[in-house]
Amino acid sequence: MWHNDIKLTKCKRGEGEFFTEKQVHGGKKLENTSIISRISNALFGNKNTTITTDEKGKTTMKIGIISGSVREGRNSAAVSEWIHEFAEKRNDGGIEYEIVALANYDLPLLGAKLPEDRQAAAGAAIQAWSEKMASFDGYVFVTPEYNHAVGGALKNALDFLKPEVADKAAGFVGYGSLGGARAHENMRVILGELSVATVHTTVNFSLMTDFENMSNFVPNDYHAGNATAMLDELIKWSGALKTIR
Ligand SMILES: Cc1cc2nc3c(=O)[nH]c(=O)nc-3n(C[C@H](O)[C@H](O)[C@H](O)COP(=O)(O)O)c2cc1C
Repeated sequence: MWHNDIKLTKCKRGEGEFFTEKQVHGGKKLENTSIISRISNALFGNKNTTITTDEKGKTTMKIGIISGSVREGRNSAAVSEWIHEFAEKRNDGGIEYEIVALANYDLPLLGAKLPEDRQAAAGAAIQAWSEKMASFDGYVFVTPEYNHAVGGALKNALDFLKPEVADKAAGFVGYGSLGGARAHENMRVILGELSVATVHTTVNFSLMTDFENMSNFVPNDYHAGNATAMLDELIKWSGALKTIR
């Protein structure tokens, strides 16, 4: 990861989810592997490959559902819970879905100078965020749209990452006047730079017709079709990309 001067032992406990206590890898950085070694790993296998299997040898995967707003009263919470419940109900054998609330990580602005008494907590937050994102094989980004783009908090959070997300896949669920569509297109550009493959189908909730008063989430049933297609594509690509990491 980009931030490499952190040395802390505890992560913060946050609303709705918690982090287990972890020892920071004393100065150890997550390394990106070269294209040559990735191709070689895919062709000839490598003991460092990230493919995980259960006791029966069946491939397992973890998909993170990233609730991408930190705004107080954020709609991203209800939308993330909806797609999480939808995904769980599919009973995709061997696939674990987990909501990650960006608001639970008190990330600083990348590179900003902090007072000394805030540096340790900021370092722990960056470490926890990086490790959590590295633990997934794929992502569903639940993205609001702010000024025709992804929100600043999510963009800043993504700027801390690179090897953690590289050669993985992502799908999008959004909401806004046009269902967050412009934020999704913006996300495709950002994630392209991070070597994340973004799937075709998106889920787009309208602030006018899928929310009451733009804040109480009451989604229309027809979104199930796109949610199914998006998750099908995401699982397929996440599985395929596992073979080259
Ligand atoms: C500064 C600002 C800019 C916004 N720009 C857009 C926009 O360009 N397109 C859109 O569809 N909604 C826009 N919205 C509405 C947000 O998408 C809406 O408030 C949404 O609920 C924000 O997500 P959140 O509740 O999870 O934070 C904007 C809201 C704010 C406060």
